[in-house]
Amino acid sequence: MPAPFVTFEGIEGSGKTTQVRMLSEHLKAKGIAHVVTREPGGTPLADEIRFLLLSPREETVFPETELLLYEAARAQHVRSVILPALSSGRAVLCDRFFDATSAYQEFARGLDRESVDRFNLFASAGLAPNLTFYLDVDPEEGFIRLRGRGTRPDRIESEKMEFHRKVRQGYLTMTSRAPERFILLNGAPPPNEVFRLVREAAEARFGW
Ligand SMILES: Nc1ncnc2c1ncn2[C@@H]1O[C@H](COP(=O)(O)OP(=O)(O)OP(=O)(O)O)[C@@H](O)[C@H]1O
Ligand SMILES: [Mg+2]
Repeated sequence: MPAPFVTFEGIEGSGKTTQVRMLSEHLKAKGIAHVVTREPGGTPLADEIRFLLLSPREETVFPETELLLYEAARAQHVRSVILPALSSGRAVLCDRFFDATSAYQEFARGLDRESVDRFNLFASAGLAPNLTFYLDVDPEEGFIRLRGRGTRPDRIESEKMEFHRKVRQGYLTMTSRAPERFILLNGAPPPNEVFRLVREAAEARFGW
């Protein structure tokens, strides 16, 4: 079996980075070769695009512009990091991937599904995750957590609560459309409890 490609999705503050880190520690302890990465970003160029996307700015950023910038970052990341890792037998844990583009640019910004799917496919060279953890939390809870982290809100985090509710609904819709790929987890319990379920699912699928 080729090395697994596993992604973590959810709204701001849902615990993605925390769970990626915990799964990586677990894999390290078991001696399983893997790469941890994130989107947008993961390469120097893609990190520059991330900065363009996330910095607060006066100028209106149109959904189409946003979509293409995310896809540009992804095209670079997939080809220079994810595909090489997988083909050398290392698993990849990625903090957000193309489902985030569907949740944010399709469900929340309102771009049409055909365009988003087409650009997702183009940017990711046809690569899809083997397993996707979707961490479901109420946007209000996500925001309380982010405030606790003490960093300035980025351009997307600064969107209205209504926007984040649409993102969450989008994720829930996608999860129900592809139940064989998604693992839907309640992200509200403490990190260790969420991680127990992540580990169980990863063990069942990949023997991790
Ligand atoms: N299950 C949890 N319960 C309570 N707090 C949590 C939980 N998971 C993470 N946190 C805390 O909430 C904050 C956000 O967590 P984390 O950075 O993992 O979320 P994220 O989904 O990666 O957010 P972002 O979308 O902003 O990158 C952190 O301060 C983290 O310590
Ligand atoms: Mg994070």
